[in-house]
Amino acid sequence: MDRIRIVGGKPLRGTIPVVGAKNAALPLMAACLLIDDTLTLSNLPHLVDITTMANLLAQHGVELSLNGDSPGGGHAGRVLSLTARTIVNTTAPYDLVRKMRASVLVLGPLVARCGQARVSLPGGCAIGTRPVDLHVKGLARLGAEIELAEGYIEARVKGRLTGAQIIFPQVSVGATENLMMAATLAEGETELVNAAREPEVCDLAHCLVAMGADIEGIGSDTIRIRGVDRLHSAHYAVVPDRIEAGTYAVAAATTRGDIELVGARPELMAAMAKVLVETGVVVTPTERGCRIDASGTDLVGVDIMTEPYPGFPTDMQAQMMALMATARGASMITETIFENRFMHVPELMRMGAQINIHRASSAIVRGVPKLSGAQVMATDLRASSSLVIAGLAAAGETTISRVYHLDRGYERLVEKLAACGAEIERIRD
Ligand code: EPZ
Repeated sequence: MDRIRIVGGKPLRGTIPVVGAKNAALPLMAACLLIDDTLTLSNLPHLVDITTMANLLAQHGVELSLNGDSPGGGHAGRVLSLTARTIVNTTAPYDLVRKMRASVLVLGPLVARCGQARVSLPGGCAIGTRPVDLHVKGLARLGAEIELAEGYIEARVKGRLTGAQIIFPQVSVGATENLMMAATLAEGETELVNAAREPEVCDLAHCLVAMGADIEGIGSDTIRIRGVDRLHSAHYAVVPDRIEAGTYAVAAATTRGDIELVGARPELMAAMAKVLVETGVVVTPTERGCRIDASGTDLVGVDIMTEPYPGFPTDMQAQMMALMATARGASMITETIFENRFMHVPELMRMGAQINIHRASSAIVRGVPKLSGAQVMATDLRASSSLVIAGLAAAGETTISRVYHLDRGYERLVEKLAACGAEIERIRD
């Protein structure tokens, strides 16, 4: 298994290009199942999760073709065409779903288009139990008959799904996306109340509108979808990845560096920017994206609580903890979205961080002047990136194992950091 080796202590300086968002691209790809025509997605990131979704869609019968992926051609030209002319198989098998939970996003589109789907239950995950009950209950509200059998969700409807009001008891990105897709082809109007407002949910909604869907309230917590008979082909550019951008912003801050994030959308990163500014980092929107300057700055600890958008994102909690570990004073970090998202804590402590966990959901971080390099293990995607950040700032050498987690969500991470002066390499075993 590959490892990443970092010799820390160098401030990041330079520019980092931001790619399309993984968490927008995955639902957008699933949306191709709603039409028998071609959905063309540009600004697609090059990630293992995207390949997993492509493999899943291919076994449903989707024809895929990728352009603009030439060596050195950059990410901007990467365009994926997806054509679901005939759905040959409505089963999403365990082998693919267990690799990536976002596979469950094919459920809504398949039932809406084919009247049936059989999708494996994803099972547990390193960051929490992550049930999919809201997806299933919502689909039942739209008239699908649901059975849970042999580890699979089996959903069926005679004719079309029927619009309904669905009130989510808690905000769910995936359930909002799945049911929004399903509702586009339902008979009548669907109202999603307490819907997720994440930029990736909005991106999907805008793409569905480009495909002919009738959707109101995009970006608010109440989304109204009037079902149409059919949707059509569209071209859509995936929104830049606010979490990738945020991760490099925090890396720059933790190493007391100065970088420009080219292609970042600062208006989608307000909660992250607010925390960075409170620590003492200078965040400035630029013509090409935004600049993060922490050079020579004495950063101070700030309290953080994760919340659904527009609150502080859970996907940035681990990275921010690495920053707080080296800031002056204490900070309290509270995780409210997932019940087990502090797996990076023991690894950061092996690097000299001083962290106490309280009642499983809060961590008190007391900043130390310097972390020290160590051998650490990645446990999930964002925990892995927090270890990379800690390694970049630490004195001495850090080796991170299980880097396949990083390949799921960060394109060319080692190259991007090395281009900004980091001493970092991937060791292939
Ligand atoms: C999405 O996951 C993201 N994944 C996650 O990113 C992100 O952490 C999460 O949203 C929260 O922002 C993708 O977009 C592919 P949820 P999702 O449904 O949709 C509970 C990353 O690192 N819940 O909003 O699965 C759930 O357990 C990843 O890129 C139910 O109880 O998250 C959690 O506590 C990790 N029942 C909360 O809701 C359900 O049916 C929010 O989960 C669904 C969710």
